[in-house]
This record gives sequence, C-alpha cells and structure tokens, in this order.
Amino acid sequence: MDNRNEILLKIICEGGEHSVNTYRNEYRSLMALIKDRFYSDGFGECGGMGRCATCMVRVVTAQEISGMDRNESSTLSKQGIIDPCIRLSCQLFVDESLHDSTIIIFDNA
Ligand code: FES
Repeated sequence: MDNRNEILLKIICEGGEHSVNTYRNEYRSLMALIKDRFYSDGFGECGGMGRCATCMVRVVTAQEISGMDRNESSTLSKQGIIDPCIRLSCQLFVDESLHDSTIIIFDNA
C-alpha cells in the first residue's frame, strides 16, 4: 500500500488516548471510523445526516480542514456551539487534512 495515503490520528475518548492508522476512503466519514473502532451505542444516532449532534468532536489540528455546510453549522448552533474546532464527525471526510490531528470525543454520547 502507498504510505503517502496513510492518515494518522490521535483519538481521545473516556480519558484514554489511542493512535489510529487509516487511509483515505477507508471510511466514508470520521464518524464511521469512530463508530467502527470505539463506539456503538449513542454515537452517531442519525446515521450521518448531520441532525442529531451525537457525533460531535473537538478537532485539534495545525491544518485547515473543510468548512461547514449549512446543515452542520445549523445543527451546532442549535446546540449552542460557536467554537469552530467543534465539528460533527459525520460531516468530516477522513483525508489528508486530518493527518496528525487529535480528535477529542465528548463523553456525552
Ligand atoms: S451522526 Fe447525527 S449529526 Fe452526525
């Protein structure tokens, strides 16, 4: 496999820190990756429609990641979220822009 496509993430959940290796297009979204590797119940309840906000994460990265579409910003603002580092993981592609980032999963799922 081509190492240039490797994407390394640090995922922090329930006080634990996990290193995750993945590849572009291995998962359709960051939410799908998290659900597959860490959570099942209560996370990503709307299945990636951008409506439930149960897939919220904090993204810490030096790189610029994709902007929010209207659906994501509307769902986050309904939750009172104005911090641009807090995103709906179902709306984020796992691509090079997330390489070397830290993803913090809230314990409210
Ligand atoms: S899975 Fe519901 S908003 Fe992301």
